[in-house]
Amino acid sequence: MLHDLRVPAFDVDALDLGELRQRQSAKYQRYEADVIPAWVAEMDFPLAPPIAEALHAAIDRSDTGYRSASGLVEALVGYADATWGWQIPPDRVVPMPDVLTGVAQSLLMLTAPGEGVVINPPVYPPFYSTIRDVAGRVVVEVPMSRSADGTHAWDLAAMEEAFARPEVTAYVLCNPHNPTGRVATRAELEAIVDLSERHGVVVISDEIHGPLALPGATHLPYAQLAAEDANAVFLVSASKAWNLPGLKCAQLVGTSRTASAFTERMPLEVTYGTGHLGVIAAVAAYEAGQPWLDDVVSILDGNRRLVTELLDEHLPLARYVPPEASYLAWIDLREYGLGDDPAEAILDRSRVALSAGPTFGTGGAGYARLNMATSPTILHEIVRRMGTVVQ
Ligand SMILES: Cc1ncc(COP(=O)(O)O)c(C=O)c1O
Repeated sequence: MLHDLRVPAFDVDALDLGELRQRQSAKYQRYEADVIPAWVAEMDFPLAPPIAEALHAAIDRSDTGYRSASGLVEALVGYADATWGWQIPPDRVVPMPDVLTGVAQSLLMLTAPGEGVVINPPVYPPFYSTIRDVAGRVVVEVPMSRSADGTHAWDLAAMEEAFARPEVTAYVLCNPHNPTGRVATRAELEAIVDLSERHGVVVISDEIHGPLALPGATHLPYAQLAAEDANAVFLVSASKAWNLPGLKCAQLVGTSRTASAFTERMPLEVTYGTGHLGVIAAVAAYEAGQPWLDDVVSILDGNRRLVTELLDEHLPLARYVPPEASYLAWIDLREYGLGDDPAEAILDRSRVALSAGPTFGTGGAGYARLNMATSPTILHEIVRRMGTVVQ
């Protein structure tokens, strides 16, 4: 019998809350020291060694100037081909500071003020403010459907109705979907391609969680199903899978139809907002980060199952469908009568910080989102504490 003899990239059981609290990033700075933070999508794991080495080397050579994007496009092209069989034409890649900037710029370049933009709540909360306040477009909610067992799905019939409205010109697809953890199937994506073509709606596909597909699910880039000249934009980034969001580097990929809007009309300052250290880290992630990511995926696979067990023990009336990708547990706490925002009571009484369900829009009331990207030991303590809210 063959055994995997590779040494894991890090010892997840060595994670220590005291050490984690030394971090200066948002996750560990927002709340008081007695609160365990499990809210914003940052991971507790140590950086992938090739990324840490690349960043240390950059600091050692005082390499902190403006970004050049040197190697970024080649690294993304290589990663997308190896991971998804997606062959990205290099001249269609535009560096972005982050995915949300990519969403905003896509709307600004490809739609007109006041037009409607479909999103599928419960969904990543900043989509609302990006569409409304940054881009000046109108949010059109088409909620995910929820079946009796709590599984969410894209409501294709409702999307057809919305896409048919004359004012609707864009759709922000969140795949893998945050917070439900759904990974769109080939059939779902084909239906979306068809809807987009028939109704002339531009699809802005946010695939930031794509590299974090967990065993049993396959992330299919929208580009693999859409035509080469599709009315679409793809947004990818190493920032979620390798925990680099503070370094500010994402990538926008256009099609033969949409790419020129960004290369010809988008203000240069936008793409130059991309962080130089972010580029260096993304190149290392795409080129040499896979072994670390394999370990992380296997930890997350264990953690998503552990959450099922822990909820059974400490909050048996909670309902949770393990995500198909990434590290966010979307937990239905409505049976406990904690109001629309159970995260508030859990923070006050249990000293655990979760993301508040109602901020994810329609379908979020009574839910809370738990970040599972930590050690099993810390996860035990998080869910144990959560259970005390109903005692
Ligand atoms: C679906 C989704 N899109 C975008 C982002 C933010 O990405 P960025 O920091 O690159 O804007 C997140 C962060 O968690 C996310 O979950």
